[in-house]
Amino acid sequence: METHLFLLFILSFLLMAITSYCLFYNHQSNHSPPTYAFISFFNNRHRLLSWYTHLLSQSPSQTVLIRRLTPPKTILTANPQNVEYILKTNFINFPKGKPFTDVLQDFLGTGIFNVDGDLWLTQRKLASHQFTSRSLKQHVKTTIVQAVKTKLFPLLDSLAASDTAVDFQEVLRRLGFDIVCKLSLGFDPCCLGDQHSFSHQVPILKAFDTAAAIVAKRAATPISAVWKLKKFLGIGSEKVLKDSVLEIHAYITEIVDERKKIIINSEENELDLLSRMIMGGVNEELIRDMVISFIMAGRDTTSAAMTWLFYMLSRHTHVEEKLVSELAFQFKDDECENLKEMKYLQACLCESMRLYPPVSWDSKHAVDDDMLPDGTPVSAGDRVTYFPYGMGRMEKLWGVDRLEFRPNRWFDGEADEMGRMLVLKEVSAYKYPVFHAGPRVCLGKGMANVQMSYVVASIVKRFEIRAVGSEEAVYLPLLTAHMEGGFKVWIRRRRPTIGATCRHEYNLRK
Ligand code: HEM
Repeated sequence: METHLFLLFILSFLLMAITSYCLFYNHQSNHSPPTYAFISFFNNRHRLLSWYTHLLSQSPSQTVLIRRLTPPKTILTANPQNVEYILKTNFINFPKGKPFTDVLQDFLGTGIFNVDGDLWLTQRKLASHQFTSRSLKQHVKTTIVQAVKTKLFPLLDSLAASDTAVDFQEVLRRLGFDIVCKLSLGFDPCCLGDQHSFSHQVPILKAFDTAAAIVAKRAATPISAVWKLKKFLGIGSEKVLKDSVLEIHAYITEIVDERKKIIINSEENELDLLSRMIMGGVNEELIRDMVISFIMAGRDTTSAAMTWLFYMLSRHTHVEEKLVSELAFQFKDDECENLKEMKYLQACLCESMRLYPPVSWDSKHAVDDDMLPDGTPVSAGDRVTYFPYGMGRMEKLWGVDRLEFRPNRWFDGEADEMGRMLVLKEVSAYKYPVFHAGPRVCLGKGMANVQMSYVVASIVKRFEIRAVGSEEAVYLPLLTAHMEGGFKVWIRRRRPTIGATCRHEYNLRK
């Protein structure tokens, strides 16, 4: 009896010691990076972005370890060598993994964003046809240019004429939704309407927003059993998620059914992703899930990037002036071919995505034990998270002025006789993993760049976008990052730039 009591005492003591260690003990050893206990994570759960950024900038290897109540532990890194190792060198050992896909499963199903292995590779191959340079050119001509001219310009003109403030983030999100639906479904839902259409929500957009926000919160909850129980009972946010997903499924299924009829009755078919999948005999559930992944991938990412760029331009008018000069000199309305030549525009986009990446963090789960290049040991099952938001703010990577919005940091070499900076820096995708990198690099990267360049150039050339208030905007890291509360702006027609091409106006060196 005494032996039993003694054993019980020892066991309780060990359990308490382990629990306290996981809960309260922050430490650093020679073999692992600085380690933070659950209680630190819990106390900082409402400010994870700045807490993680701070921890990583303090860590000698730019990697830290976060313990939660239950395994797996999270290895968080802003170290480019580690990022390269996870995303490319040992890609096979770092899939998204079940803990990640479980959280998104009810919304994204088995779409490309939420699967690994063969299921991922098949979808990747199928979808890559959508991004050949021929398809891309066609898409730009028929979709992006048209959307800007027939929907965006009339809207901005009328907002400017009537002196009405608008949530610019919402304008760009609706535009992004229309464009990505045309690309993936071959169908324009016309969510971007006139200025009066902003007084009411578009049901399908609302359903996407709701579902995305709820699954993002699932991912951030410290104890996953909470959402799992709510789902089991069919209550609260889990019930709302279920209803939103049903609405999205019904919307897409209707479009798929319509398209099938058109394909059967027609000789010539559109080359949108949906038609390709139907003709390729892909099963209906997978078509639906893949379309959802595509819409999520293409919609909020570009609009988030552009929202933050317009926000930064409105606060850095000297940068905006230089951009206006470049556009006056080089941008022709119907031409999308030479967008890459507008180097200052490219630098502005890169710089605002460095500080405000559309995807703040991204996690993988190790299949086998491993070791990262900085010496961090990884156990099978560990979550390994790379962190573009924090990486964009690391002094080691971007220097002491890392928090400044300075597009010129993206240039190499000297300016030409006109004062133009000509050579954009080659920056490693592992130091700047805004579009992911390696075999799973963003499929829409090229298209997103063309789309954003064209839309930003078209707007900046004609309009001034000015924030209504002077408060600092808050970056909200949902599945795709948003500006909290939207971006309320006034829109004014821009006065034509006189003599924009003279050396003084065009000097981009400062
Ligand atoms: C500024 C714009 C964009 C950014 C910053 C961006 C960023 C990313 C990132 C970080 C990933 C990896 C996500 C993950 O694996 O969890 C990704 C994947 C992907 N993106 Fe983008 N994206 C953008 C625009 C687009 C557009 C416009 C499309 C197409 C319509 C697109 C299509 C995809 C697809 C299909 C994947 C999945 C690739 C795979 O898993 O193999 N993206 N993107």
